[in-house]
Amino acid sequence: MYSLLSHNTFGIDVSAERFQEYASVEELKTLIAQGALTTPFLHIGGGSNLLFAKDYDGLVLHSRIEGIEVMEEDDRSVSVRVGAGVVWDDFVGYCVEHGWYGTENLSLIPGEVGASAVQNIGAYGVEVKDLIISVETVNIHGEERVYAVEECGYAYRDSIFKRPENKSVFVTYVCFRLSKEEHYTLDYGTIRQELEKYPALTLPVLRKVIIDIRESKLPDPKVMGNAGSFFMNPIVPREKLEALQQEFPRIPFYELNDGRVKIPAGWMIDQCGWKGKSLGPAAVHDKQALVLVNRGGAKGSDIIALSDAVRASVREKFGIDIHPEVNLVNG
Ligand code: EPU
Repeated sequence: MYSLLSHNTFGIDVSAERFQEYASVEELKTLIAQGALTTPFLHIGGGSNLLFAKDYDGLVLHSRIEGIEVMEEDDRSVSVRVGAGVVWDDFVGYCVEHGWYGTENLSLIPGEVGASAVQNIGAYGVEVKDLIISVETVNIHGEERVYAVEECGYAYRDSIFKRPENKSVFVTYVCFRLSKEEHYTLDYGTIRQELEKYPALTLPVLRKVIIDIRESKLPDPKVMGNAGSFFMNPIVPREKLEALQQEFPRIPFYELNDGRVKIPAGWMIDQCGWKGKSLGPAAVHDKQALVLVNRGGAKGSDIIALSDAVRASVREKFGIDIHPEVNLVNG
């Protein structure tokens, strides 16, 4: 048995039957040819968006493919090919150091580059899909395929790589296009307000502001186990919002370009009185109600019990079903 404690940021003490890493496409293909990838298997990234309900009776795979390589460059933009095993925030730091615009609002998101393309990570008005050119993969038969961004089925925290039929498609590299022309995305939340503390707006300043905002709201997994937002923000028809506004005139929402609206689940959970509340060793974070935390020694089932209780409250008060954003394993 192999302990997964250091491979899930929730800090759940579970094990896998076997654990296998690979550092190159060649090594992955050799493992496949040798029949080393037995079923069932689960491919993980940094384990920052996972909740294990119990031990994993199978093989856990993890990419250690490293490298940030410039593919094309002109005065206006640069294309880079990045290994799936590169720590996401190291890549953001690299872009900011090089004066490449695009990733800075996604500073400090935990996890690795491969998973960023699976999950379509997003924060502070930016989604990674807008920076991706293509995603390189190897499947369980050892076949390579490059998906152009249009083929990836990107939507809010979603892609075709999350579908069950693509469970055996492994991301090996992600190619991004970043801009060399100065531009920023500043309209989300308190970014502009925070920027007033600085004499000038630069890429490193914006990265620092994003990091400060995140650190003030989101718990550090090294201190308290968590997987960021536990739930997705539900997307509802406009009429549903209008009905809710009768009872909750201050309900926050974001308009989507298809006429529907996204309602912050954190706000609804907060309104239900869950913020800072515990259920056994699992708790709702006291600074951001969308985040569930492990107060120490929680099992996956403790977090799931809290999640079920929170979902039931939101359903009762708002008539909306919220769904986990975190991937439940064996849940
Ligand atoms: N709110 C409350 N109480 C709370 C939490 C939020 O009233 O306890 C309200 C806020 O005041 C604000 C609104 O809800 O009006 C939205 O809150 P926030 O800006 O903190 O963002 P979020 O919608 O809760 C999403 C992402 C985060 C991302 C932030 C910033 C999802 C599931 N979550 O959270 O992503 O960092 O926006 O862009 O979309 C993650 O995916 O793990 C993650 C942290």
